[in-house]
Amino acid sequence: MGFILAAAGSAVGLGNIWGFPTYTARNGGAAFVIIYLVLVFLVCLPVVLLEIAIGRRTQRNPVGALKMLSPGTAWNLVGKMGVFCGIMILSFYIVIAGWVFGYFLESVTGGLERLASEGEFGRFVGSPWKNLLYMGAFMVATLAIVVGGIKGGIEKWARILMPTLLVMLFALIVYVLTREHALAGLRFYLVPDFSKLTAQVLNSALSQAFFSLSLGMGALITYGSYMSKKENILSSGFIVALVDSAIAFSAGLLIIPAIFTLGPGVEAGDLAQGPGLIFVVLPQVFMNLAGQVGYTFASFLASFFFLLICFAALTSTISLLEVPTAYVVDEKGIRRKKAALITAGIVTLVGLGSLLSNGASHFFTNFLPYPSGQWQGFMTITGDIFFETLLPVGGCLLSTFTAFIWKTGNFSKEITRGFPEYAGSKLEKWFSGIVYVVPFVTFFIFINTVLQKYFNIQLF
Ligand code: TRP
Repeated sequence: MGFILAAAGSAVGLGNIWGFPTYTARNGGAAFVIIYLVLVFLVCLPVVLLEIAIGRRTQRNPVGALKMLSPGTAWNLVGKMGVFCGIMILSFYIVIAGWVFGYFLESVTGGLERLASEGEFGRFVGSPWKNLLYMGAFMVATLAIVVGGIKGGIEKWARILMPTLLVMLFALIVYVLTREHALAGLRFYLVPDFSKLTAQVLNSALSQAFFSLSLGMGALITYGSYMSKKENILSSGFIVALVDSAIAFSAGLLIIPAIFTLGPGVEAGDLAQGPGLIFVVLPQVFMNLAGQVGYTFASFLASFFFLLICFAALTSTISLLEVPTAYVVDEKGIRRKKAALITAGIVTLVGLGSLLSNGASHFFTNFLPYPSGQWQGFMTITGDIFFETLLPVGGCLLSTFTAFIWKTGNFSKEITRGFPEYAGSKLEKWFSGIVYVVPFVTFFIFINTVLQKYFNIQLF
């Protein structure tokens, strides 16, 4: 149970509540949702299993694990890339987590109405000092847990708070679906229009799936290294993928119809262009609710909901900081406390670039042009490179490693420990076979992403 809770805590986070609805809205709705779910179970689940298996087999951090399985080769560079991705992803993730924390503080102190007012998100993210405080607070909380190792406490909380989050999501979904125009949103979310299936939809679905499952950078290698040999890797991995997808799907079921209730003329795709979708939509949902239950109670519900999202984000920032920390501790022989402090310091420094790239500083807001000519902000660039491009690359390399270097026989052997019936079963044949397919699928989508994202070239 400990492993499942920790891995699910790492998976369920802003990727589910903030990312999934945003990418669904940007990519035309239901077709994206379907492609996403197909990719989660066909392409990502095998990577979940092989990451856990590599971690548990070696009992090491991603770099040490690959060194142990393939000594004297360059494969450990894949682990190093993962460590670097962890630092870079955390650097913008923690800024967004800070926004959620800020929205919690504002709504708990009576500011819900302001949060719901026109243009407030832009003003909010444009004020550097407040956000520095929010981001700092989040970093300190993450650091305290990674250093102090109060993981037992986190597991207890996760056990209560994840179901609470799901219940609250359901209650809000029921409320939103009774509002005017919500059904148009439901149609957009659930009735696929496959003519909307473009290269971008496929790329976004794969990278979002990797991100949401905390895949492609060795987070699950690290968590797997703490897993007991008696546990069943297959069922644990499957449960984590299922819980993660269920929460993402529910968040979409809330946010997408809610966009349509904001009134005619609000275009889901336009509203989702920046990172602000849920920050614009949620306060308005709660302000609507205030009409029925009163401002105070609606503010209470809003605060509670933002706090739940903060908690979900915290169990994810822990895993993002844990990977580089475990690497520095094991490979550089630095004490855990110092290692975590150094990593957190670097993350915070890089994170300032993202913090300032939403209007506060012109330099970071228009940081670099892509080869296609468009100027992008620091946060967008970091997200594009480390989340949308490199996570699937990590998955491609790790599955290549498993298929051709570590060999599927060893992969199966590790799963069989803790699940004896796996040996010789249909499941074993399936996963041993699919591991050879995953490298090709992810490689193709990687090429596609690079062409489309940076060069504006559409293959289809
Ligand atoms: N999966 C988390 C989310 O959905 C984010 C996250 C945590 C992550 N650890 C990770 C993403 C490792 C990629 C790799 O919010």
